[in-house]
Amino acid sequence: MGDDIERTPTGIEGLDTLLHGGIPKHHTVFVSGPAGSGKTTMSLEFLYKGVTEYNENGLYISFEETQDELLTDLPFDWDFEGLIDQGRINIVKYDPYQYEDIIGLIRSNVKETEAERVVIDSLTALSLYVDNVKDIRKLILDMNEQLRKLQTTTMYIGEIKSSKPEEISRFGVEEFIADGVITLILGQQGSELTNQLLIRKMRGTDHDRKIHPFKFQDDGLKVYAKETSIPSGDQSQNKTSPSADDFF
Ligand SMILES: Nc1ncnc2c1ncn2[C@@H]1O[C@H](COP(=O)(O)OP(=O)(O)OP(=O)(O)O)[C@@H](O)[C@H]1O
Ligand SMILES: [Mg+2]
Repeated sequence: MGDDIERTPTGIEGLDTLLHGGIPKHHTVFVSGPAGSGKTTMSLEFLYKGVTEYNENGLYISFEETQDELLTDLPFDWDFEGLIDQGRINIVKYDPYQYEDIIGLIRSNVKETEAERVVIDSLTALSLYVDNVKDIRKLILDMNEQLRKLQTTTMYIGEIKSSKPEEISRFGVEEFIADGVITLILGQQGSELTNQLLIRKMRGTDHDRKIHPFKFQDDGLKVYAKETSIPSGDQSQNKTSPSADDFF
């Protein structure tokens, strides 16, 4: 299916194999996982490889961390600052309580920076300022529509409390609105933490449906596309999966 569709390769080793070439162009993908599971790292690599391998500008919209905080934690040997100095990647921090203006802000930033790849970190932080799930759904739908018009390929980051298989998003709506869902799983094997991922859905293309390990290397993440694994022990202290009702 879909061999002739246009794609945005992530540039992340192994992930594009699982995606049968990349994310369908101009789609939105919800990348969810618990704290420290690699969401920010993966999405920064999506932007970095966008410039260095595919000549596409990137825009990172952060609601909590500043540019310095994001880049200090980046565990790779990259000249990310150099790409920022050249205007190829822009990192913008917004206050999430300004969510009513967010769509206009995204639009002007995408146009100004000529970004073809966008990261929103995180949809969860933004949604926590919205009063009810109906309005969260509307906000994400409106954002989706705007990003589609702007013709960007977008990663929405979602924070979840645990790596339980049934826990995909915080509010239970994000995964339905995005075109694709990639879940990052933080597990434990013996005394060591493990990183795994699963592509749960990707509209417009066939894709791999198994859990694969990934590792942090000096030049980026490496997803082991030929190796599959079962989720290894949940790190969460949280024993119940939250529903939207838990937050309102
Ligand atoms: N070389 C490495 N090998 C394994 N894990 C690493 C390595 N370098 C960094 N990490 C882990 O990856 C984490 C960074 O992940 P990242 O910040 O991308 O996670 P995140 O899912 O965005 O987290 P948060 O929800 O807190 O924003 C670090 O906290 C660290 O634990
Ligand atoms: Mg993060």
